[in-house]
Amino acid sequence: MCGIVGYVGDRPALSIVLDGLRRLEYRGYDSAGVAIVGDGTLHTEKKAGKLANLEKALGEGAASGITAGTTGIGHTRWATHGGPTDRNAHPHVSQDGRVAVIHNGIIENFARLRVELEALGVEFSSETDTEVAAHLLSIALTEVNSEGQSGPQALAEAMRRVSRRLEGAFTLLAVDTAIPGAVVGARRNSPLVVGRGEGENYLASDVSAFIEHTREAVELGQDQVVLITPEGIEITGFDGTAVEGRPFHIDWDASAAEKGGYDYFMLKEIAEQPQAVADTLLGRLTETGEIVLDEVRLTEQDLRDVDKIFIVACGTAYHSGLVAKYAIEHWTRIPCEVETASEFRYRDPVLDRSTLVIAISQSGETMDTLMALRHAKEQKARVLAICNTNGSTIPRESDAVLYTHGGPEVAVASTKAFLTQLVACYLIGLHLAQVRGIKYADEVGAVVKQLQEMPDKLRTVLESMEPVRKLARDLASAQQVLFIGRHVGYPVALEGALKLKELAYMHAEGFAAGELKHGPIALIDQGTPVVCIVPSPAGRGVLHDKIVSNIQEVRARGARTIVIAEEGDDAVVPYADELIRVPRTPTLLAPLVTTVPLQVLSCEIASSRGHDVDQPRNLAKSVTVE
Ligand code: F6R
Repeated sequence: MCGIVGYVGDRPALSIVLDGLRRLEYRGYDSAGVAIVGDGTLHTEKKAGKLANLEKALGEGAASGITAGTTGIGHTRWATHGGPTDRNAHPHVSQDGRVAVIHNGIIENFARLRVELEALGVEFSSETDTEVAAHLLSIALTEVNSEGQSGPQALAEAMRRVSRRLEGAFTLLAVDTAIPGAVVGARRNSPLVVGRGEGENYLASDVSAFIEHTREAVELGQDQVVLITPEGIEITGFDGTAVEGRPFHIDWDASAAEKGGYDYFMLKEIAEQPQAVADTLLGRLTETGEIVLDEVRLTEQDLRDVDKIFIVACGTAYHSGLVAKYAIEHWTRIPCEVETASEFRYRDPVLDRSTLVIAISQSGETMDTLMALRHAKEQKARVLAICNTNGSTIPRESDAVLYTHGGPEVAVASTKAFLTQLVACYLIGLHLAQVRGIKYADEVGAVVKQLQEMPDKLRTVLESMEPVRKLARDLASAQQVLFIGRHVGYPVALEGALKLKELAYMHAEGFAAGELKHGPIALIDQGTPVVCIVPSPAGRGVLHDKIVSNIQEVRARGARTIVIAEEGDDAVVPYADELIRVPRTPTLLAPLVTTVPLQVLSCEIASSRGHDVDQPRNLAKSVTVE
């Protein structure tokens, strides 16, 4: 949610900042802006709409100072306070024109601060919460200067004073016309990482903004202020105490965050799934079938003590949690509940030291999930994060983390992150089962082998997607699409519907197939497409037979049935208007293969309807507000 980038060095900042914004645009794309310090002047430009609007404006009237200045900040916005207009776009500049500020998050006490500033005669030029930070920073700088401090240190001290006054979640970056060669940042509950270069340094919401220039990064903690100059990086707490950031190396290269010849990032990320699954499994299964989870900093005794599991997550990550529940309860016999993170802490869940809370998040920044995990920790539960983003807040604050190795996911709609989250959940379930000793030891042993076969099965699925693309073009004019499934096919149905809603802006709903007759079947009209996710007839014959009956029920009411079933399942053939085959896969692992056609379907429908597949309207990649 909102992308932020800052640069200081000896190269022109504008092109570096714009490149960074291009890579961060997936985080928010309502408006964009830059502030560059050059020729002793603060040059700003900001425009509503996508980054292209800003680039056009810069192309038309770029002053030499803006193109030559070597200190700059840039922002791409997902609007919270104030609509997506030029005026509300960031940066916001203080009334005296001295400082420019960009912000990600929400300043919760902004209304009070605004009244206070207006009483001092400050005139506001936007409806944003951010603007208070710009005015406060300029006032704090004047104060700090009058106490005899100047230069970059004064900017850092002023930012600390401002940060102490702000409530809520924020990452702030600021530049000061009077102090060229310095960018200051502050972080509370919102992401910010430092990129360490040679004679230049970077700040950004995530590493993709500077990966082209450096792969050495430094992680910041909560409530910290960072000052970057060409010479160095200084981090302090909001109280001024010096702190060490945690350095880390980024182990993927710039090309991982490029489209690589695909029309959309989403298509590329769908295609990367076999490798992403293989990478998440890599080094975690021994030849004897043991699961090795070395980043899970919980002892075997801790895991034996667990008597209840809660999974908290949002959106697609929540759907991976729903699948995990079936697997974990079956393999471990530990009761497992899955809860939408945004609801969790508000209903006073029963948690204690023997509860394991698994927080699943691709970005590691989702505020709802973060708040759920903090609530769990306050109640003394142990928290294990499943996350794709090294150094992000959720794994930092958890007792343990299992990283998915999906690589950067740029398209707003989650694809490879979902599959790797599933793999991580399976690994945790199997590990718990092995550590605790379980009823289904043989089955668990077999699943370990079957997991290793999944990358190849995924390749097979991807090779057979042409009929799905054709079908998608045909469905592009449908009014609605329904999805039904049973058991782990139910979360897959939910995920299929979510993908279609967010990308194609169509009415789409996922149902537990058995629930249809309790109401939703009334939605079915002549020709309504119903996607049916069919479990393997081998594993759970009863389930299979039941869903075949459900398919007949919807077909009898006029539905056009699109059936996803495994190779060799002939029982579905008479009832399938369209049949999509997936390789034979044990029931619990089947979501890995049955989800892929649904991703392709929604991507192609959206593209046929002329939508921006990678950046659907109203959405942002990481949602850092509650
Ligand atoms: C949907 C999608 C979202 C995210 C959700 C959680 O395609 O991407 O539903 O899954 O916002 O995000 P993370 O996993 O970053 O916590």
